[in-house]
Amino acid sequence: MNLKVELVPPVRRKPKPKDPLKLPFGSTFTDHMFTMRYRNSEWSDPQIGPYQPLSLDPAAMCLHYGQGIFEGMKAYRRAGKVYLFRPRDNIMRLNDSAKRMVMPEVDVDFVLGCLKELVKTERDWIPDLPGTSLYIRPTMIAVEPKLGVRASLEYLFYIIVGPVGPYFPEGFNPLKIMVSDKYVRAVRGGVGFSKTMGNYAASLLGGKEASDAGCSQVLWLDAIERKYVEETSTMNVFVKFDKELATPPLDGTILPGITRHSVIRIAKDWNLTVNERRVSIDEIADGTKSGKVKELFGAGTAATIAPIGELLYQGKSYVVSGGKTGDLTRRLYDELTALQCGEGKDKYGWVVSV
Ligand code: COI
Repeated sequence: MNLKVELVPPVRRKPKPKDPLKLPFGSTFTDHMFTMRYRNSEWSDPQIGPYQPLSLDPAAMCLHYGQGIFEGMKAYRRAGKVYLFRPRDNIMRLNDSAKRMVMPEVDVDFVLGCLKELVKTERDWIPDLPGTSLYIRPTMIAVEPKLGVRASLEYLFYIIVGPVGPYFPEGFNPLKIMVSDKYVRAVRGGVGFSKTMGNYAASLLGGKEASDAGCSQVLWLDAIERKYVEETSTMNVFVKFDKELATPPLDGTILPGITRHSVIRIAKDWNLTVNERRVSIDEIADGTKSGKVKELFGAGTAATIAPIGELLYQGKSYVVSGGKTGDLTRRLYDELTALQCGEGKDKYGWVVSV
């Protein structure tokens, strides 16, 4: 397949934001997007063209049955160079989501090549201040016009990108998070590990109630016992105990985060004991009182590493690390952001130059 490129004439391009640090996350998009169609059992028509609204049949299956998946990744520009962080892992995870949602997989190398072209095309849009990046949203939707419940035979895959600052308005400062034992996000055997749109829709009501209570996000508990922590709405979660860094295991209900995997790898290299194990909310709540819980943080592409300073659970507040950012949380944030920006020594081979 040959990538077709149709550039927007310079005079019709949008003005770039003046202060990327003040941009609300995910609300500014560049001049171009990548699209590719799936019909007759094959992908075709890959192209980079103007960023524009999609034209969809009102019967398009994604609009009725939620057959849609996406990814989140970032490009960083520092000292005139542009880097992607573990992009192949994101594309492979897209394929894992696709398999679960009975959608077609993409060719990882081909899509990576097209993504690099798009990022190069939008190079001038990539902010270079610390804490800023170009957020990349690969998305696949079912577009066959059909109301019968079965997997679609036609799909649209597209990639949109836009400059972003920090995901949370708090920046790199401790978050207040609500633990929900009222709603659940995912069940074993369901689609929790897949980055499918419905998982996010399922999180919205809990998210609204959390926001009404002054919290940034929900920390979900397992659906059966409502006892073990799973993840927040956009981040995997880590707990630093006295002698251990613990994070919930990948048992099908949580997203296999690439940032999560990177944190585990780095922490192990720092000789920390890292356990992927079930952690109950009581263990965390009690640990905040006894001092056994030293730090709590979230990890995700959009959020990077986000300290959690307070949990609200069953109407009670549990303060972690005195409500401050812990040392390990900060060290991991510094290490990861340096690697992502091409500043650290990339001994893992995670960084791809564009
Ligand atoms: C990401 O971390 O990139 C995500 O996709 C989470 C969220 C913004 C939906």
